Amino acid sequence: MKGIILAGGSGTRLYPITLATSKQLMPIYDKPMIYYPLSTLMSAGIRDILIISTPHDLPRFEQLLGSGEHIGCKFTYIAQEKPRGLADAFILGENFIGKDKVAMILGDNIFYGTEMGEKLKQYTEVDGGVVFGYQVSDPERYGVVEFNSKDEVTSIEEKPKKPKSNFAIPGLYFFDNDVSKIAKDVKPSERGEIEITEIHNAYLSLNKLRVCLLDRGTAWLDTGTFESMNQAAQFVQVIEERQGLKIGCIEEIAWKEGFIDDSQLAKLAQTLIKSGYGKYLLAQLKK
Ligand code: TTP
Repeated sequence: MKGIILAGGSGTRLYPITLATSKQLMPIYDKPMIYYPLSTLMSAGIRDILIISTPHDLPRFEQLLGSGEHIGCKFTYIAQEKPRGLADAFILGENFIGKDKVAMILGDNIFYGTEMGEKLKQYTEVDGGVVFGYQVSDPERYGVVEFNSKDEVTSIEEKPKKPKSNFAIPGLYFFDNDVSKIAKDVKPSERGEIEITEIHNAYLSLNKLRVCLLDRGTAWLDTGTFESMNQAAQFVQVIEERQGLKIGCIEEIAWKEGFIDDSQLAKLAQTLIKSGYGKYLLAQLKK
């Protein structure tokens, strides 16, 4: 399975912070935002990853993450000229996806929970689509799932004024190889975007969409506003300081997944030693 991180967009809700730089390069406590979604894909065992961002910001991501070889991954970069919508990821990524299945994650979504990677690995052989449902207090901000009395999904609505449930769809999706073909048929919505909800509904109408509920022990945070960005940073800081374990540490995950060996991790640690991040990596080796 291949992976895509969608890390473009306009970031208008974070102006003036994002007037000159990308939201997904902003720090969430001790690392750039994109480390978190990247670590989620890596923990699912996905190493061949396409990073999509704006023409202006893409060179910064390449500077930050390079070819991916240092962490046992392979990164490809494609610019999205205009923020046309989330479904565009599968059109821009069509050649990259090739004959494979694909997981797509939004560059400003953070997931954290017990055995998250192990849980996600079960979806890498998806036939159709798998999306998640997560209970939130403000569903009207998201794509919302409607269930019937048998707990079957009956509809998915994008940012509904009157949500039919409290289950929002987080920005992490698993699709089979039909997704690019389906994305190309999506017509722009009233707000002028090609919506991912249309892809969900296309799979739903074929009876090929599974909605898996994430339990309350899983944290899903998005970081698109000042408040949510600050809350995410605090969440990461509290957990990391309490446990002495890092969230979203791509080097550690690469090592745990067996993408790199002990000596490669030790080498990566040296360049990061002064901030304490490197010391943390070295400490993992001694465990
Ligand atoms: P949003 O948060 O919906 O949009 P945005 O990041 O442009 O922010 P704002 O609403 O403040 O203007 O986007 C969710 C994620 O998807 C985010 O990581 C940016 C990314 N994105 C793209 O890369 N391309 C797109 O065409 C869109 C719509 C979003």
